[in-house]
Amino acid sequence: MLEKINTLVKNVEEFSISNLVELENFRIHFLSKKGIITQLFDDFKTLSADQKKTIGQSLNKLKTQAEEKFKSTQLILEQSSNSSADYTIDLHLPTTPYQVGSIHPLTSVQQRIVQIFERIGFNLSEGPEIEDDWHNFSALNFPTNHPARDMQDTFFIQKNPDILLRTHTSSVQVQILEKQKPPLRTLAMGRVYRNETISARSNCFFHQIEGFYIDKKVSFADLKQTLYHFAKELLGKETKIRVRPSYFPFTEPSAEIDVSCNLCKGKGCNVCKYTGWLEIAGSGMIHPMVLKNSNVDPTEFSGFAFGVGIERITMMLYQIHDLRILIENDIRFLRQFTSL
Ligand code: PHE
Repeated sequence: MLEKINTLVKNVEEFSISNLVELENFRIHFLSKKGIITQLFDDFKTLSADQKKTIGQSLNKLKTQAEEKFKSTQLILEQSSNSSADYTIDLHLPTTPYQVGSIHPLTSVQQRIVQIFERIGFNLSEGPEIEDDWHNFSALNFPTNHPARDMQDTFFIQKNPDILLRTHTSSVQVQILEKQKPPLRTLAMGRVYRNETISARSNCFFHQIEGFYIDKKVSFADLKQTLYHFAKELLGKETKIRVRPSYFPFTEPSAEIDVSCNLCKGKGCNVCKYTGWLEIAGSGMIHPMVLKNSNVDPTEFSGFAFGVGIERITMMLYQIHDLRILIENDIRFLRQFTSL
């Protein structure tokens, strides 16, 4: 009997199982009620007590060996049949298109403007959107009765009229002068707020880029050349600028900067309202009072400043006729700016 068991150990070992049918054959052959091993157990009962002692152990070993082979092979076959289920996916199908976001037109125009000024030595500064009267008005030489302080233009915080949403980025001039000493050549961009009726051409908030340059002997010629360079870089070499006298409490003299309309080449179109010119910035020489308010000696230093409306330039560059679309987050509009 021992010999029989030994051959069976070999048989179990060598039995090759590569699919579920063969596995079932294995089970029937060795382990089923009529299988060889079960039969051996029946024969075992007829042996003498002495023989049982020597043979019992080997017989049990044979049984566990067969059972273990059955279980482990079953596991392997089941796993591989599961993973073969994955291949029901058709690998030749095209993948789901990858949705690429786009840079918002206001952001990309901002970036273009910043790049132009960075190349001529301007760095970037920042100031808060929630301001106090001093930074937004008083330090910028706004007389107390100036109409811009009127509730019509400014959003005040209800319980404290000293706190407001900045109405322009010129407030950053004061912020920076508090912390840094001239020479200064910096750009500040961000959102500004005005209590205006919302229409195709104005909104209650918009974006500005403020630039200012303070050093010894900065002149109006520097301002003109800087903005001329900017206009040419942004809109093309043939662009001309026009400097119109204007008024801001914090600059003297003050000027409005127009650029020639590059769509109609000055002939007149609906973008430039048939004038051939588009207004892009307010500017001027920083008022001595503003420098004094920030403890900068106006006899030693002078400077220029300008404020560019980013919406205005974006509308011009992309021929957008209603600025409200720039903040509505309409995906059909934004997708037109995807760069891929
Ligand atoms: N702050 C002004 C405005 O919002 C623009 C400006 C900036 C004018 C700097 C002169 C100098 O209209």
